[in-house]
Amino acid sequence: MIDKMINEFNTPFYLYNENIIQEKIQFLNNLNFKFDCKFHFAVKANPNLAILNRIHLHNFGAEVVSAGELFKALKSGFDPTNIIFDGPGKTEFDLKYAITQQIRSINIENLDEIDFINEYSLSKGLQTNIGIRINPNIDGYTLDKITTGKTGGKFGVSFDQIDFDSILNFKGIKLTTLSEHIGSQITDHNQLIKSYQELISLADQLLKKGISIETLDFGGGFGVIDHSDQELNFQEWEKDLNKILEGKSYKVIFEPGRYIVADSCELISKVLYVKQSGNKKIVITDCSFSEYLRPALYDITPPIEVLNKSKDFDVYDIAGGICESTDYLAKDIKLPQIKKGDYIKFLNVGAYGSSMSSTYNSRPRPLEVMMNKEEYRVIRSRDTLEDLCKNEIM
Ligand code: LLP
Repeated sequence: MIDKMINEFNTPFYLYNENIIQEKIQFLNNLNFKFDCKFHFAVKANPNLAILNRIHLHNFGAEVVSAGELFKALKSGFDPTNIIFDGPGKTEFDLKYAITQQIRSINIENLDEIDFINEYSLSKGLQTNIGIRINPNIDGYTLDKITTGKTGGKFGVSFDQIDFDSILNFKGIKLTTLSEHIGSQITDHNQLIKSYQELISLADQLLKKGISIETLDFGGGFGVIDHSDQELNFQEWEKDLNKILEGKSYKVIFEPGRYIVADSCELISKVLYVKQSGNKKIVITDCSFSEYLRPALYDITPPIEVLNKSKDFDVYDIAGGICESTDYLAKDIKLPQIKKGDYIKFLNVGAYGSSMSSTYNSRPRPLEVMMNKEEYRVIRSRDTLEDLCKNEIM
């Protein structure tokens, strides 16, 4: 089937497997939680409308961080009451849009957001549900660049800065949620559990003061096999979660992004050139960091498959054609011998792959294809050269 697709679509293209997304969703939906729980897909991991639409059909909500993501979540079928808005830099436009849509919760990360949400809601005759993202000062033990739960960072607010009594007096808002998210690609479940415990204990403290929090939003961050060979131990995580929530009546939300889509996608690419540079063999493909930024940004190497039958191996650096020296997808990697015209697959690029792609060097963004057991179809067409000029005025 892959040969047929390469003939039909040309490279590069992202190829998603709908069945894998479904398996991931089912795995989470079948966990044996002893508390009220809802999963909200973090749209930033992959905002393709077809993918969002599939996910919403499985009783998932959405987590968004911009007006654009909110628009796409609504367009793909999510009900506003199943959408949460996070983010440390919401604009007035973001907030007004979220308020008028009356979504499940706007989780604030700056105290100034509260006044704006209150005043704008009152001016529209509305009351808006809000959450407060707490910075628990807990290390996710993940890559530094995707850690978000430590003091000194830009995320969330510290609990002691919040004047809960005045929040309760605002008539335009209703405080329903405490939230947190200590980072992405977390494989040490103990750190996640520690952060959940912190949030539970803060909500318990508030309850003693007569302030009742309905929902605890524990964020996402479930680690998959990526920069290490480890993934989150869901069994231990589930067991500990049930324990720490025993006897509590909070509703719980999780916001997984990567876990749902990471393994579902391959980026199919063609080898343009192979050359020798000093003692290095360099493969230049028609994919670059414009199509998959994570290796250049986080120094991770995606699993790679070469679509040829070579039995001999060599060590290669795999690069793109961008005029930047960070434009590598892998370095010093042992692969079957590669020649010009071969095809290469970069695996597990479903999360933060297409969503972080750009048109840098005026490269048209690739086509996206979704397959299942029976068929495949295009879910995003390739940018045309005209698309690259759209919105520009000469
Ligand atoms: N909730 C919040 C508030 C978030 O900031 C994020 C991710 C998520 C949920 C979903 O996290 P996940 O389950 O996908 O780990 N570009 C980086 C990842 C950045 C994650 C940003 N926030 C990467 O490619 O590794």
